[in-house]
Amino acid sequence: MSESGASFAELWESLLPVGRTPAGYRRYSWTPADLACRAWFAEAAGARNLPVETDRNGNLWAWWRGRDSGAPAVAVGSHLDSVPDGGAFDGPLGVASAFAAIDLLRERGFEPARPVAVTAFTEEEGARFGVACLGSRLLAGAVEPAAAAALRDGDGVSLAEAMAGAGLDPAALGPDEDRLAGLAAYVELHIEQGSALDGLGAPVGLAAGIWPHGRWRLEFAGRADHAGTTRIADRHDPMLPFAATVLAARAAAAGRGALATFGKVIAEPGAANGISSAVRAWLDARAPDEATLDGLVTEVSAAARTAAAEHGVALELRRESFTPAVSFDPALRDRLAAVLGPEAGGPAASGPDPGRSEAGAGIPVLPTGAGHDAGILAARLPTAMLFVRNPTGVSHSPAEHADMADCLAGVTALAAVLADLAGP
Ligand code: GLV
Ligand code: MN
Ligand code: MN
Repeated sequence: MSESGASFAELWESLLPVGRTPAGYRRYSWTPADLACRAWFAEAAGARNLPVETDRNGNLWAWWRGRDSGAPAVAVGSHLDSVPDGGAFDGPLGVASAFAAIDLLRERGFEPARPVAVTAFTEEEGARFGVACLGSRLLAGAVEPAAAAALRDGDGVSLAEAMAGAGLDPAALGPDEDRLAGLAAYVELHIEQGSALDGLGAPVGLAAGIWPHGRWRLEFAGRADHAGTTRIADRHDPMLPFAATVLAARAAAAGRGALATFGKVIAEPGAANGISSAVRAWLDARAPDEATLDGLVTEVSAAARTAAAEHGVALELRRESFTPAVSFDPALRDRLAAVLGPEAGGPAASGPDPGRSEAGAGIPVLPTGAGHDAGILAARLPTAMLFVRNPTGVSHSPAEHADMADCLAGVTALAAVLADLAGP
């Protein structure tokens, strides 16, 4: 194994125990597990003499100053937080690969002409405060700082309180125009969240774009009552319109080639022998284009309202986050394809399903239904993504996986991209 291969393995091994539970990873922002991930980042940067900064929104930056430290920088990285019971790779693979790519370039004697930053964005999954890509949204001015500060986790702790607890000043939250102006490009390496690369026999691919997607919160308010004594006709059971809405969402998505998921639901007060007083649930909806997504959410909302009325239950529905369709910067993507592809620059795929691809002449270029900080930042600067093969095709689960050889292929690809973008 080359020195950089060893460095990746060492970085990876040292992060693996952090936030690991028997059910999967729980690395929620500003919790002890997240702070331990941040300490890991600081240690990795310190071992490489890369000064670390925490920006006003809690995102981490480790700097490799180039010959011209005032030139616009190339940022590479991803995130360290996880979904509940997530896998090891979604996020951390991009951060560890970025440090290892720097090691590989140094091993080769490469000196950057412009600064290179390794980044780790905060609360990418939205697992604690509900809004995905919160750190990059704040940086880019894509979310109101006051609204973000007031977001609360399941225990009622606000983002402002959680950040203050970690020693940050929540009053500083907000867009960071100077930082954005100092960036030439952002490249995020990520495990593939599907099995298209596996099908193509390719260890590494590029992203074409991201489906528009968002989260909607539905609150069905009924009446708590006794499970054994309340006649069917007298019930105001919020579980029933919720159940009807889940089925309606599935049908509405399937009919459009879109996706709709209820992955989080809370029944109040949660008594096994009681009718719920309320059911709170989150709809995650994604589609190939915004008109289809609008149609999907409108149909699910109408079904929820109809079912709520039928059961004498009140319904409140509100959008919690939204990310428009993203098409990654074509010039940057073509440049990366030229650097990485055996026969430079195959055509971008635009298959109807996330993860489906059409191999171009060179490196595979895949669309995805997953959200990423690179997608948020695409509105402000050229961004691109590299995907690393995931033979299980599973993600947001401990079953997600990349072989070590493919992780190293990702590091090599990222180093080639950096050598080009930050080169002479
Ligand atoms: C992030 O992983 C998302 O797609 O929600
Ligand atoms: Mn994810
Ligand atoms: Mn991710």
